[in-house]
Amino acid sequence: MLLNSRVLGHGHFLPAKVLENNDFVNFIDTSDEWIYSRTGIKQRHIALENELTSDLAVKASQKALDSANLKSDDIDCIILATTTPDETFPSTATKVQTQLKMRNIPSFDVQAVCSGFIYSLQIADSLIKCQKAKNILVIGAETLSKIVDWKDRRTCVLFGDGAGAIILGKSKGFCGIMSTKLYSDGSWHDSLFSDGGPSINQKVGKIRMNGKDIFKQAVNKLTEATNEALSECNLDVKDINWFIPHQANQRIISSTAKKIGLGEDKTISTVRYHANTSAASIPLALSSSIENGKIKSNDILALCAIGGGLTWGSCILKL
Ligand code: UT7
Repeated sequence: MLLNSRVLGHGHFLPAKVLENNDFVNFIDTSDEWIYSRTGIKQRHIALENELTSDLAVKASQKALDSANLKSDDIDCIILATTTPDETFPSTATKVQTQLKMRNIPSFDVQAVCSGFIYSLQIADSLIKCQKAKNILVIGAETLSKIVDWKDRRTCVLFGDGAGAIILGKSKGFCGIMSTKLYSDGSWHDSLFSDGGPSINQKVGKIRMNGKDIFKQAVNKLTEATNEALSECNLDVKDINWFIPHQANQRIISSTAKKIGLGEDKTISTVRYHANTSAASIPLALSSSIENGKIKSNDILALCAIGGGLTWGSCILKL
């Protein structure tokens, strides 16, 4: 029997505290004009000191469960994409498992930085297709504000906190995840990394990035990955109802959409309100755009992301 996976529910959560561009002028040499014109960002949500990645993940997941009309007991696997786990170990996914009072199901984190949600989708889809799970909670959750260097104006204005989640369920007919493509090239390490880690110096580290390097790579790699995912499921760019790229920079989003042959009218952009939330950016954009009625059932979505590693990937998804 050929099985597919499909999205059964979605949810997202943003911390209440908002930091606007103008708030930065109090502690770094920057301006709303610079940030907005270079990135399209106007504001970002910031977690409180005692508000953890797991807290955001749990709130987004509870909404996803409610939207799918499922109970905690119905979930048989949790995959959580994050670059900002609560602790070095255990996984943040296990904290979600216990806080949502789920059964003793497998739960684990995926570390692929901004591509983590796309990586998690491929893993979840594969687990469902090989009948290891029926309903998988797939989460992207981040508190990047805790690892940015607030004195580095080149990076601290770019990132924000939040979480998005979907439930991916078994489907006998309808094909939700139509294709996924994943890639990495570790030789780009020095262009985007954290200058700390358990093995290297026993610290958490802060985000270090050569923005120009990443910008140049992003447009080409996201375009190629999206075209390859389309061709894998025999679809054409004309079949896409909505393009949901990783929300890092409006200029990257617009340039990639243009290169693929998609207009702004088919492109979801939430970077203005959320900034770059790494692994949470795509599920946040997806869930908030379903909630506001933009994205509808049966729409064909093209998702793509690129991040530290480099890692990148794409997914064609019918809602
Ligand atoms: O999700 C992970 C993937 N990451 C990304 O996708 C980020 C990709 N890169 C980018 O989005 C862009 O490269 C940035 C937004 C990070 C930077 O934009 P840019 O147009 O590449 O600017 P730049 O780095 O070339 O900097 C131009 C100038 C520099 O001044 P000088 O050296 O020319 O005098 C920077 O020091 O802008 C300066 N600058 C700032 N000025 C005011 C850098 N950050 C700021 C700032 N406010 N916050």
